[in-house]
Amino acid sequence: MANKTTESFFDAPAVAIITGASRGIGRAIAIEFAKRFTNRLLLVLTGRSEKGLQETAAKIRADGDQGTIEGVIEDLFKGIAPGTYGHALLVNNAASSGDVSKYVRDWDTTAMKTIENYLSFNVISPLLLISKFLSSFPNSKLDNLDRNSTTMRRTIVQLTSMSAVLPTECMSLYCAGKAAREMLHNVTALEEPGIRVLNYAKGPVDTAMLNHLKENTASSKTTELITKSMEIAVSPEKTASVLCGYLKQDEYESGSRIDLFDIIGFPKSE
Ligand SMILES: NC(=O)c1ccc[n+]([C@@H]2O[C@H](COP(=O)([O-])OP(=O)(O)OC[C@H]3O[C@@H](n4cnc5c(N)ncnc54)[C@H](OP(=O)(O)O)[C@@H]3O)[C@@H](O)[C@H]2O)c1
Repeated sequence: MANKTTESFFDAPAVAIITGASRGIGRAIAIEFAKRFTNRLLLVLTGRSEKGLQETAAKIRADGDQGTIEGVIEDLFKGIAPGTYGHALLVNNAASSGDVSKYVRDWDTTAMKTIENYLSFNVISPLLLISKFLSSFPNSKLDNLDRNSTTMRRTIVQLTSMSAVLPTECMSLYCAGKAAREMLHNVTALEEPGIRVLNYAKGPVDTAMLNHLKENTASSKTTELITKSMEIAVSPEKTASVLCGYLKQDEYESGSRIDLFDIIGFPKSE
């Protein structure tokens, strides 16, 4: 398990890379980080929608602590001076649900490109991002940072789902992608004891993705499951806040998985 520093999670000058921050949970995490980090904070946000990213940036500027936000940039790893930060974070959030209209038996070789594209975005991209993150923020002594610890703190958070562990009809790509991502982060935790890695299953969250799953699945069982999930869904802001509280406690084992409802308790039925 990576060593914990004496400094609180949100105190050091930080750079946080958050993928899929143009809407939904990624956006909520970016805004929550902006509120909680007490020192310099550079947010590096990704997403395809320029408009969505700009809206996120505007909300951050409106809600965040203006004294701490150093900038909001979109170019991954460009313009970042790694040695000037005490804490580097990678939030592997972006994901897609894929084609949820197919049972496994429906896939065939004509869909090869679709499957490759899915795995490329949902599994290969997070892998390469982790690798780039590790090489950009090596575990080196920092000369120019006035803090107690001389070791840069590094945190990787992966947004996972019950789909990583619960087979669900017509969600073969999504389930397989989430399971693969989770193992990818587990291996990272094993190989990199100097880094804290968390797989956060953030419960059902009221976002475009949940609606998309419900509207497009071909399975009535999955429709039922998603409908039930929607009844207990929380807001992106709520799950982002719970995640940050959990990170602040800093008591998890690196590489472990935690579910929103393990932290706040499962909602009681009325
Ligand atoms: N909502 C839930 O109930 C739920 C439950 C369990 C797990 N999750 C997980 O939580 C994470 C965020 O989900 P969400 O509900 O916030 O989803 P969302 O509302 O669909 O947002 C997904 C984000 O990923 C980005 N994205 C999608 N496709 C992309 C692509 N090809 N290239 C680059 N960026 C892309 C989107 O931005 P652009 O469209 O601008 O690119 C958006 O910012 C995902 O890992 C998801 O699997 C969600």
